[in-house]
Amino acid sequence: MKVLVVGQGGREHALAWKIQQSPLVDRVFVAPGNPGTAAIGENVDIAATDLEGLVNFAVDQSIDLTVVGPEAPLCDGIVDLFRERGRLCLGPDKAAAEIEGSKRFARELCEKHRIPGPSFWSFENPATARSFLENRPDGPIVVKASGLAAGKGVVVCKDNEEAREAVSHCLEQVQGGAGDNTLVLEEFLEGPEVSLITLTDGETIVPLEPARDHKPVGEGDTGPNTGGMGVITPVSLMSRVSQQMETQIVFPTVHAMNREKRRFRGFLYAGLMLTQQGPRVIEFNCRLGDPETQPLLLRLKSDIFPLLMAAAQDKLDTVEAPVWDSRVAVCVVACSGGYPGSYKKGVPIFGLDRIETGPDLQVFHAGTRLAGSDLVTDGGRVFAVTALGADIQAARQRAYDALAKVEFEGMHYRKDIGVAQAASRA
Ligand code: AMP
Ligand code: GLY
Repeated sequence: MKVLVVGQGGREHALAWKIQQSPLVDRVFVAPGNPGTAAIGENVDIAATDLEGLVNFAVDQSIDLTVVGPEAPLCDGIVDLFRERGRLCLGPDKAAAEIEGSKRFARELCEKHRIPGPSFWSFENPATARSFLENRPDGPIVVKASGLAAGKGVVVCKDNEEAREAVSHCLEQVQGGAGDNTLVLEEFLEGPEVSLITLTDGETIVPLEPARDHKPVGEGDTGPNTGGMGVITPVSLMSRVSQQMETQIVFPTVHAMNREKRRFRGFLYAGLMLTQQGPRVIEFNCRLGDPETQPLLLRLKSDIFPLLMAAAQDKLDTVEAPVWDSRVAVCVVACSGGYPGSYKKGVPIFGLDRIETGPDLQVFHAGTRLAGSDLVTDGGRVFAVTALGADIQAARQRAYDALAKVEFEGMHYRKDIGVAQAASRA
């Protein structure tokens, strides 16, 4: 079988790494990929946003299955295009991808189908949003741009004053985007967060293991939000809470999408907050999380390919459930100086080859590039180390020992991935 992975981040490197281990797979292509994916598969110089280029490649090369990493091509209709051209592509079609592409759509879906989430208010016009803020009692509130904004369209505000500023900021983030200039204001919820990613063909639902991302750039969850600075999986949850996440949120969402005639196929990512009143939806994504995918795939013991293929063929009921390594995985992301603000690219990276990788430790590339034979930075999140351990301490130790071998000017990473979780277990 020939598989094409679309994207170029750590998530796609991890996917290619795992897919390439399948005895059913002969060749793995990654478009456009990164230096990490080049070492395990074949990079193809086609951008993830060049849908025509991708489908032509899949047809010419008789690709058996295409797996899409990022949200932008899904929201632009890559799956619809592949379907028209008779090629299998795993992911939601354009209508179903709106669950991520429009936060307003996601909120209205939850409200209509009684899927628990925060109260929310949508505004087409910033002036109306500001006047709403003048007239509500002061207090924390969350301001979101409805359209895609690469994780930067959300501001958690401590009061109405901050929220008024955030309204302008959020609109800037989506300008030039898909044309959805709606603002969504949300009730501020509190509690620990969990990412629950599910593979589904719209009928059969296969939840992956729960994971915890660390979104803010600074230790102790301080500073602005990023795409994700590190992850720990599994997350220890009471079985009542795990059940609620599935029966009150994931199952009803898959069914709600069917009732809306937007059958969801692919990876449905529910970002949840575990409030005192039970789990609540913070956001949906129409794809695998990054970096969540990296530690999840290191823990996946069984072959991923049959699951991916079956989901794309609406036959997920015919394959064995995934088998997980019971150990803990910790993933830590190393970033460019200045990220999530502006940062330099092209900075030489030293020492990555000093890390010994194996079944218990992997390095997945994200924003890296080869300049001649030198590896240099090429993005905000540069690479991540993922390590398995018998417990959180052991996994952390292994991951941070490896990271200490690498340096580049401006490199920073959070030193506390998994610390809060380790403390809560004690
Ligand atoms: P999102 O991009 O929607 O996942 O939001 C980014 C982060 O903002 C989340 O991981 C939460 O920490 C925070 N957040 C989003 N919505 C809310 C909410 N309604 N209440 C509290 N925090 C939120
Ligand atoms: N790590 C968060 C995301 O993939 O959206």
